[in-house]
Order: sequence, then C-alpha cells, then structure tokens
Amino acid sequence: MKIDLLQMVEYGGCSAKIPPKQLEEILKYLPVPIDPDILVGIDTHDDAGVYRVNNELALVFTTDFFPPVCSDPYEFGQIAAANSISDIYAMGGDPVIALNILMFPASKLPITAFAEILRGGFDKASEAGVRIIGGHTIDDSPPKYGLAVLGYVHPEKIITNAAAKPGDNLILTKRIGTGIILAGQRLGMADESDIAEVKRLMKQLNNAGAAIMKKNNVKGATDITGFGLGGHALKMATASKVSIGINMKSVPLIGKTYSLIDEGCIPGASFTNLEYAGRDIDFSDGLDYNLKMIAFDAQTSGGLLMCASPDKTDKMLEELKAAGLPDAAVIGEVRKSGEKHLYLYS
Ligand code: CO
Ligand code: CO
Ligand code: CO
Repeated sequence: MKIDLLQMVEYGGCSAKIPPKQLEEILKYLPVPIDPDILVGIDTHDDAGVYRVNNELALVFTTDFFPPVCSDPYEFGQIAAANSISDIYAMGGDPVIALNILMFPASKLPITAFAEILRGGFDKASEAGVRIIGGHTIDDSPPKYGLAVLGYVHPEKIITNAAAKPGDNLILTKRIGTGIILAGQRLGMADESDIAEVKRLMKQLNNAGAAIMKKNNVKGATDITGFGLGGHALKMATASKVSIGINMKSVPLIGKTYSLIDEGCIPGASFTNLEYAGRDIDFSDGLDYNLKMIAFDAQTSGGLLMCASPDKTDKMLEELKAAGLPDAAVIGEVRKSGEKHLYLYS
C-alpha cells in the first residue's frame, strides 16, 4: 500500500498553527516566570527561550510539531526535524540534543509509516549534529511530528529578534511561497517542479546561514515560519522597538507562487496572519494584492531573516551564496521607529 499522509489532513506544516490573534488571547493567561537567568523569555515572542547556566554557557530550548506537509512519511520526518531545529539556529545556538514528539494513529496507518517518520527525523537531526535521546508518542489522528531541541549558546552571543538596529539591511536566505504552492498541490494546480522545490527548501537546514551570522557578529535575526514573512518581520520590529521596511518586489519567490494567487490558491492561514498583523502595517499604494498575500503566506521550515550592517551586507551575501544559498537577497531595511512597525512596499 502506498502511503499518502496528505490524504489525512486539511492543512499541514506551520499553516496548522493557532491563528496569531487566538494565540495572543491564550498567552495573556500564561504566567511569566521571573528569573534573572532567563535571558530570552516569552515576552518578545522570539524563536526559542534562552536560559543562562553560567557566564560561559546558556541553553537554547524550543519545540515545534505539526501535521504532514507532504505525502511521504520519510520526507515529512525530515521536514519536521529541519523546522524544529531552525529555531536554535535563529538564536545563534548550536543544536545538541532533541526529543521526538509524535502523534500517530496506529489503527489508521501501517507501523512502517511510523518508523519512516522517525527515520526521516533521525537522519535530518544527524545531519545537524543533533542526537535524539528520547521522546513521547500519543495515539492520535492525523499524525503530527516534531522535536523539542536543546542547543548551546554563549550568553553574550545570543541572536534575538529584539536586536534589529535602524540602518541594518535585512537579508532573507530562502525563497517564499511554501504555503501557496502546497495549497496549489492540494487543488491539483501546482507544477511538479515547484512541489519538488518546496520540499527541497523545507528539508534544508538553516545551519549554513547561521554559521555566516555568527562569523559576521549578527545580533538580530529570526526564522520565517507560520506567521509568514510579514508576521515574523512585525514581531522583530515590535521586539526591537524599530520599524521595518520590506520591498516585496525584491523578495525571491518559489516558481509560480505569484500566479497561483490569481487562480485562488490562498491558504486560510494567510488571511488570519494578515488580519492579525494588518493594524500595525502600512501598505504602500503600489503594492498589489498578490504581494500582500505572499507577505503573509505561512512558511514551513522557511529561511532566516537576518540583520546585516551596511558595511557587511555585500560580503555576507557573497558568503551565503557561496555556502549554497543562491537565493539569499536583501529584501528590506530596519528604520527608526515610525507610526507603524512594518512598511510593505513595492
Ligand atoms: Co522561529
Ligand atoms: Co518555533
Ligand atoms: Co531569535
């Protein structure tokens, strides 16, 4: 029997996140622990929490898991693991160990699918140098998979979404459009080549981009996942108390992302992301509908959005391209705090 995990889900990957508005409601009730060793907590909505052990070592801790984004269990395992580990890279950390988090309908799927998801996760974790040392499984449908990942970082070398400085350029390392292409796949409208490219990008670790951030002393960054490019840029602007401008025309897109919107391929997550962020965004007059929706397309295992000082921007772009990230591009800039936190233009 050929297993097709996509048959089991309405939406997969980071599109399955709770809408940001609801999440904000829930977080209101979450008590905030007070401890001077919490170097990054939940207040800045960063990619991961950071806890100081001593003056030389802090722990970066994160978890992500979601329903399938592709048909093949092995590929799903790889993508989910790459996505989970990404938050450690986005904080400047070195991922070290992880736990499997797996929800699996044992009565609906053969046990080989279970094994293949875990094998995909294991292989991707190994590629990142991460040892999976345990985990937990619940009988549940549809399947969901991800990791809780622990990494190391020097307390003075943490990269946060709260350190964007006016004058910095913003570099994005992966193309945008995973949510739209995957919606197109579901509707039978996406090209095979675009689907293959989306899967390749989702499996790609953010380790190369992270190494270049560290080498160039980058302080501000995040990764682009379920809230979309606009949503994560807005979180960065808010946490950093600055404004961010993004030139949507300079954002590299995957294959037919732009034209698929004309055909109605807009995942529901784009609307909830836009609805939430919209009140704090200035959309320039020239910005067309497609680019506006693309800005809020939920990405699964997306690229890094990093701040680069003007004198280092060209060098970093060259290094990223040489490191196997040919799509890396400057897509915007950090500005002094203005009327809105995010300015989208074209
Ligand atoms: Co993140
Ligand atoms: Co996350
Ligand atoms: Co971060």
